[in-house]
Amino acid sequence: MMRTNLPRRRLLQGAAAALLPLHAVAQGGASPRFAVGASDFLLDGKPLQIRCGEMHFARVPREYWPHRLKAIKAMGLNTVCAYLFWNYHEWREGKFDWSGQRDAVEFCRLAQQEGLWVILRPGPYACAEWEMGGLPWWLLNKHPGDAFLRTRDPAFVDPARRYLREVGRVLAPMQVTQGGPILMVQVENEYGFFGEDLEYMRTMRQALLDARFDVPLFQCNPTNAVAKTHLPGMLTVANFGSDPAGGFKALAAVQQAPLMCGEYYSGWFDTWGNPHRRGDNTSAVADIQAMLKANGSFSLYMAHGGTTFGLWGGCDRPFRPDTTSYDYDAPISEAGWVGAKFNAYREGMRPFLAAGEVLPEPPARNPVMRIDAFALSESAPVLANLPPRTIKARTPAPIEQYDISRGLVAYRVQLPAGPAGLLAAAKVRDLAWVYIDGKQVGTMDTRHRRFSVALPARSKAVTVEILLYTIARVNFGVEVHDRKGLHGPVTFTAKGGAAQALENWEIRAIDFDADGTLPPLAFKRGRAKGPAFWRGGFEAGKQADTFLDMSSWGQGIVWINGRCLGRYWSIGPTQTMYLPGPWINKGRNEIVVLDLTGPRIARIAGLTEPILDQLNPELDLARPASTVKPALDGVAPAHAGEFAAGGATQDVLFAAPVKGRQFCLESLNAFDGKQYAAVAEISLLGKDGKTINQQSWTIAYASSEELKKEDGSALNAINGQASDHWHTAFSGAAAGHPHQLIIDLGQQVEVAGVRYTPRQGPDTVTGRIRQYRMYVADKLVRE
Ligand code: GLA
Repeated sequence: MMRTNLPRRRLLQGAAAALLPLHAVAQGGASPRFAVGASDFLLDGKPLQIRCGEMHFARVPREYWPHRLKAIKAMGLNTVCAYLFWNYHEWREGKFDWSGQRDAVEFCRLAQQEGLWVILRPGPYACAEWEMGGLPWWLLNKHPGDAFLRTRDPAFVDPARRYLREVGRVLAPMQVTQGGPILMVQVENEYGFFGEDLEYMRTMRQALLDARFDVPLFQCNPTNAVAKTHLPGMLTVANFGSDPAGGFKALAAVQQAPLMCGEYYSGWFDTWGNPHRRGDNTSAVADIQAMLKANGSFSLYMAHGGTTFGLWGGCDRPFRPDTTSYDYDAPISEAGWVGAKFNAYREGMRPFLAAGEVLPEPPARNPVMRIDAFALSESAPVLANLPPRTIKARTPAPIEQYDISRGLVAYRVQLPAGPAGLLAAAKVRDLAWVYIDGKQVGTMDTRHRRFSVALPARSKAVTVEILLYTIARVNFGVEVHDRKGLHGPVTFTAKGGAAQALENWEIRAIDFDADGTLPPLAFKRGRAKGPAFWRGGFEAGKQADTFLDMSSWGQGIVWINGRCLGRYWSIGPTQTMYLPGPWINKGRNEIVVLDLTGPRIARIAGLTEPILDQLNPELDLARPASTVKPALDGVAPAHAGEFAAGGATQDVLFAAPVKGRQFCLESLNAFDGKQYAAVAEISLLGKDGKTINQQSWTIAYASSEELKKEDGSALNAINGQASDHWHTAFSGAAAGHPHQLIIDLGQQVEVAGVRYTPRQGPDTVTGRIRQYRMYVADKLVRE
């Protein structure tokens, strides 16, 4: 369809070239200072090449916004791009907050002061490794389903419109049309990755227009989804981490407009328990120069990542929570330090400066200090410090229904005397510790879909208590419908018996709310057992940055002087927490730590360097060893064939749909002739040609994974991000083909085909599968 448009548009070429800026004029009436031309962005009628970098003011201490903005300017950038996270400004419905760390107007004002333009990305959905992708949790109470968010359902659209109206009230005055720095505003975020309802995108665009945004609006999508939701007349930009030519080609195929990369990845984000991710400077700077040479514009994601303070961290799907550090291996580090990477970008951009534009020197590093190790010698057990409010429920429902936003939730129920058996919940989000009369008997873990615990025989009635910890709501895909808590029914099944639903629960919660609110805690000297809060402190002679070393602790949250600093988890890869100097008192400082598994040593030191790359898998929650093996003998393949070479996403349609609960992709060889297999993304197609919901998918088996030298985890193939990939092991003993990746779909589905995205990058990358077999059946593994 698109192609046919072009000739007509080409016809109008002359007129179109003149008309295209119409887009902005139509909105603002007066000739706009900034417009989207036929091939250039135009500022006061002159071409403006946008060299932009992403920074999230929510992830940087307000006191340091000017410092980071100066660094961004000194790197050779002329624009800063910022998301707004809806839930950050409206954690409770109808209560908006734009103060302090949330002061978006002040951020824009400071950017302008530093000589930077602003590109605003207000959402309503953002992604960004942020809690629920920026969507507020209370939306989950507005509709019982798992497919209404980011659609035209009024349960979503009405609150989204109200939010965007509020954004307009606050930030429309900061537009370039009113003397401010905001040049452009993004509609939604990578919607093509999620849906194809153009009317929804038009609805979101209209909501921004109604909110009095009159600068050009645009949308972003990954290269392979640019055509999917492009709206004629509204600019589209492409997101990619390599192959800029391919990205720009995709843009030119849908529009006659300036070529822009909306997110060029300088690094990548980390998730707990997986190797630290880095970006390659050389190819990045070369790609940026290639874009600038092609008269293109770009936005570096991230220029400065910062820290996801508080409890705002998101979670990659299916469930891989993001680390607190959002250093992102960006050219400006988490603490605002600049080094070789920064200089490579700065020198790479110097030849493309506009006439008369000079590169200021980067700001000096903020002071850093060591803090000698100090003890946290007081503790307060969680279960003994629960607030009095008790919710009574016949069977547990997701916490949102009890108006609990996130935190620690304790569920109590009586279990009569009787034989041993299995306690099982329908679903557990996210981690839970199970007690019988106060004695811990097991854990439940959503990462491995482990929702049951074996209980011993009981000679008398006992109290079962389940302490649940919410980590983060998924920020990507339909999985953002991420209802937390214990999902009933919860049953007990005696050995050889029938499942009995356990009823009449008492539920108490510590709701950490928006900013990690702590209830009154009764600290006592000494070491509490199990989940507990710990308290201690240190004297500081000055205010300087430091990195709290949490490596001897388990998993939990840290507060400094009552402010929620963030989460830690000693499985890594991050072992330290960035503590900004302005948040440290000169004199006495109090530290409170929630630890769910208990510290090995209850002491903390402040280091002068971060530790971002140290994995300790042995410190993770105990997990029953996997004895799973593939069971493909005698199973007829649903399909066998050869993938096309290159990195393009390809659909493979089966001769006939096949029903099953498990899917297996088996590689027979690779295009590079080597023994490795790699997959960026796998989705399954239903008979309607649409992708099947992968909310309850887990990896049942992977023949091998590289988990040392890079994060080649099999989960990367089903997390919806084409920028990472499953890769079979290459450090140490490397197995050869055939390689198998077996996915458990959570229930039986009818599969009519597969959407396969090969490992992204240049054609020299390893692991691109050539010949393959695919299987669908209820059971493709055996214990
Ligand atoms: C996408 C999103 C961003 C961020 C990056 C990964 O492209 O648009 O918000 O999640 O991926 O860091």
